[in-house]
Amino acid sequence: MTTETTTIRSVQWQGDHILLLDQQKLPHITEYIKLTSIEDVWDCIHTLKVRGAPAIGITAAFGLALWAQSFQQKDNFLGFFYELENKRSYLESSRPTAVNLSWALGRLVSGFSKAATVEQGQSLLLDEALAIAKEDEDVCRSIGEHAAGLFQEGDSVLTHCNAGGIATSRYGTALAPFYILKEKGIDLKVFATETRPVLQGARLTAWELMQAGIDVTLITDNMAAHTIAEKSISAIIVGADRIAANGDTANKIGTRGLAILAKAFNIPFYVASPRSTIDLAIETGGDIPIEERSPKEVSHLNGVEVAAKGVKIYNPAFDVTPNEYITAIITEKGILKGNYREQLISIK
Ligand code: MRU
Repeated sequence: MTTETTTIRSVQWQGDHILLLDQQKLPHITEYIKLTSIEDVWDCIHTLKVRGAPAIGITAAFGLALWAQSFQQKDNFLGFFYELENKRSYLESSRPTAVNLSWALGRLVSGFSKAATVEQGQSLLLDEALAIAKEDEDVCRSIGEHAAGLFQEGDSVLTHCNAGGIATSRYGTALAPFYILKEKGIDLKVFATETRPVLQGARLTAWELMQAGIDVTLITDNMAAHTIAEKSISAIIVGADRIAANGDTANKIGTRGLAILAKAFNIPFYVASPRSTIDLAIETGGDIPIEERSPKEVSHLNGVEVAAKGVKIYNPAFDVTPNEYITAIITEKGILKGNYREQLISIK
């Protein structure tokens, strides 16, 4: 049954702090960290203790509400507003690619415009953060229900990175259909790529799906083509960190290669994502900022240096899949196909 895994929450508001599942310690250690300051929040997003586009948006929203609660000068409304903008920019700087981060913070700051006092501002910010977390659960369930219709009992489906329950409020995006189908007694076989360099597939997707009793097989990234051919993979489904107005999609590094493989093997390549990941201000994927992370993620495995000492390293955390490789984008509003620009505008 899926209940156990889909009820594991990666981010929870606890009244005066945030409780965060440390995703860097999974799968062998399940540990929750107490975040009591906005600096804690920035650090946990930056160091991937919380990761996945919707989850970092929710965590940042709680982070801004947490800072607001600590603001003591109740008669300094202007000072509060000024600092709010600074703290918003600070949190936005924690990771650049997933637009959910700035989207969630933008929602909090817009909601704040109704406030006339510091107290009102504090409670509006918290209410909005809680609403974003709750909505994300409903949105992910909806994505899962729409996406479930794309698969049939016994299908073997490949996924990349982790777009599961712990990357969102609940259910996930790309993994949501597997949970929904499991609830209905329909079993699929999932092949998860390990997702070098940070191993979200090996550590997180494998763990999540196993806990839910879903048939999952782990492969290394370079086994994808062979596995598609040998294991009759019928589709690939992934999440997204930012979708440009034309449908070009940024997601975990390696996604673009899988999309090209899907085309070569003539199987569908699906992107499952909430509307909050769509960024109509960005025309094409070329304008999406791509995070580059520490060379150590590539040179080291579990703290042990495996690469030739001193070798030059390139470590982009995401890539952009051009829209022509994407068979469909599944959002909470349904399945988009064809002219993505028109359809993305119509649902946003
Ligand atoms: O670097 P990460 O682990 O935050 O990257 C996550 C992804 O690329 C996910 O596929 C994406 O955020 C969607 S999560 C529902």
